[in-house]
This record gives sequence, C-alpha cells and structure tokens, in this order.
Amino acid sequence: MSFLSATLDRVKPSPTIAVTTLANELKAAGKDVIGLGAGEPDFDTPENIKAAAKAAIDAGKTKYTAPDGIPELKKAICEKFKRDNGLDYTPAQVSVGTGGKQILYNALMATLNPGDEVVIPAPYWVSYPDMVLLAGGEPVIAEAGADTAYKLTPEALEAAITPKTKWFIFNSPSNPTGAAYSRAELKALTDVLMKHPHVWVMSDDMYEHLVYDDFEFCTPAEVEPGLYERTLTCNGVSKAYAMTGWRIGYAAGPQPLIAAMRKIQSQSTSNPCSVSQWAAVEALNGTQDFIPANNEVFKRRRDMVVEMLNAAEGITCPTPEGAFYVYPSIEGCIGKSSAGGALIENDEVFAKALLEETGVAVVFGAAFGLSPCFRVSYATSDENLKKACERIQQFCASLS
Ligand SMILES: Cc1ncc(COP(=O)(O)O)c(C=O)c1O
Repeated sequence: MSFLSATLDRVKPSPTIAVTTLANELKAAGKDVIGLGAGEPDFDTPENIKAAAKAAIDAGKTKYTAPDGIPELKKAICEKFKRDNGLDYTPAQVSVGTGGKQILYNALMATLNPGDEVVIPAPYWVSYPDMVLLAGGEPVIAEAGADTAYKLTPEALEAAITPKTKWFIFNSPSNPTGAAYSRAELKALTDVLMKHPHVWVMSDDMYEHLVYDDFEFCTPAEVEPGLYERTLTCNGVSKAYAMTGWRIGYAAGPQPLIAAMRKIQSQSTSNPCSVSQWAAVEALNGTQDFIPANNEVFKRRRDMVVEMLNAAEGITCPTPEGAFYVYPSIEGCIGKSSAGGALIENDEVFAKALLEETGVAVVFGAAFGLSPCFRVSYATSDENLKKACERIQQFCASLS
C-alpha cells in the first residue's frame, strides 16, 4: 500500500508546471526569457497599506487572532460589500482566510460529500477542479467558448445542472480570459439558478476592481436578491491592492456556512497573519485612488496586446472587459510546423515551441480546460509586452 493518500490520485499535477519549469531552466541557462505567466500585478503594495502593517507590528498586534478574522477587518469587509455591491452582511456572516484560495477551499471542504457535483465554466482558474476533487466532489465542466466571448450561456448552465449539483462556481472578471459578465448576462444565469433551489453559488469576485472602459461590475447576490441565502460572495485584497504575498482573502454568506468554514480553518491554519489583516483593514478603509490609476495602465496594455496579437497570423484575440489576462485562440496555427521543427498539433506544443524558439513563456489553454488557446498575463511592463508580442508575431509568421 502506498504511503500517500489515495486522495492524491484524484488530483492531476498542475499542467502549468511544465511551462514554468522549462522557462526557469532556460533562464538559468542564460536565455532571454519573457514571462507572461504571472498571475499578479507588477505594481508595489501602496504605501498607506505598508505603513498600516508597520504600525501594527510596532503596536504589538503580532499574536493569534480570532480564527476567521479580527472584528475591525470583518467590519471593513461588511462596509465594502455595502459600498461596492449593495449587499448587507453582518460580521458573523464574514470569513477571512489566508488568501482567496483558502476561502474557496474551506467552503468546498465544508460542504462537499462524495458524489456531489460542482459546475465550473471552462476556461476556468486552474485550481477550481482540483480543489473540488481534493474535497471529494466531482467537477462538472460547462464550456464557455470564444463564440460566446468566453461567457457561459444560460442553456449551457441549465444542461450542466443535475440533482447532484451542490455548487456553481462563477468567476467574473475571469482568470484566464478576462471576460466579465454584464448585468443582463448575469441575470440570464441567475434566472436559471432560481429554478434550481438546491444549487448554491460560489462567486469568485477576485478581479472585481480590475475592469475597463466604464464596465460595471456586478455579482450574483446583488443581481438576484433571491439567491442571497445560498450564495457565498468571495473576494480578496490580492489583485486590486497588489497584495498577493500578504495572503488575505474573504467571503460573506449564510452564517451556518461561515461557521462551518471557521471550524475547518480553526483545525488547520488558524487565523490569517495578524499583520496582514491590519494591512487589509487599511486597504479596504483607506484611499482607493490608486485603483483607477493602475487600471489606466492595465487598459493601455490590454489594448496594445490585443492589437498586436490580432496582427499575428493564425491568432484571434477577443478584447476582454477586465482582469489582466487575454486568451487568444490559435485555431489558425494548428497543423503547421515551426521553424524549429515542432508540429503544432495543440496549444501545449505551441506554447513549448514558442518558449524554446523565442523565449516567450505563456500558459497553454488545455491547462484551463479550453483549447486551442493560450493565456497571456499583461501584468508586466509595456516594454516586455511589446517585445513579447513582436516575438509571437514573428513566430506565427514563420509557421508553415
Ligand atoms: C480567479 C482567482 N480566484 C482566486 C485566486 C486566489 O487569490 P489569492 O492569491 O488571494 O489566494 C486567484 C489567484 O490567482 C484567482 O485568479
């Protein structure tokens, strides 16, 4: 019998690791590699947030806290939900965890029994299916392709729901596509959910503040108040406040679910870092002025990347509403050969050849459950992006 848990057999090794490992090897060998794989802003954490953390350390706020968050942070989160989303939550309905990732994981661990299904639109954030599998559930993938701008249609949602469905995971703006649902598009989905009262909604709003061109963000419990009692609205400070390393995520929802999540957290990691919690209080309560300033930079980069990728032979790149990703299709490159002799059979071969022959690292679409595509993160300098897109154009032009 293996020493390792049988649960591990249910989880696949991350397909993104192959690309990252190869990129690191090439970098170590002295090759000029441009990484477009990072899922974090290249901006520094704002000064006021750093100052709040330093003050917390000096004030001795360095001890254990309540397992799922200090009252000051829970209060700031309630105010944020009211201010930004028109949602009323009490502190007892709020859970704070070590990153958005732990919040989602706690919620799945707290609710899934063997055989329970979780509907996940594809392309999806790589962790959703594996977190569901680790928690003993079954991911049910519902395709949202380029033909619908990577947005799930009500028909596809309806078709994916069965009597065993426990959760629907909704992520807008999306990692990996940047697609964000308008109020009308989301209402069409919540109308379907209203017909299935046994299905709960896990809304991952991690990229809420990263939307462009006056796009108006909305979240399921706000668009359909009838879903409030079975929705967990998840968010965090990682992306909008450039705080990925601080590890603070949070969610609000029905109190029994929040209590169950607290039970799991109290027996695993206990409270998230006390200093980071005080930094998050300042992030949510302090000035929000840098968000539009950062978004101007992101929007400019998005527009440049979309234009340059669409100018590459065989690539079609939709313009997404938010996040800092684009998800171009390489349909027009399939079946061709690269100058280095790689037959581009699928997006994994494309990404590997692109890296080996041009030094540009992207993540292939199969990792996110929808091919043939790749994900570009434009959370890097304009100069890097321009150079990388030129190399992608040259690579595509050299395919025969
Ligand atoms: C869609 C989505 N949800 C959740 C997370 C997790 O965020 P955190 O770093 O706060 O754990 C990420 C991070 O990449 C993400 O892209």
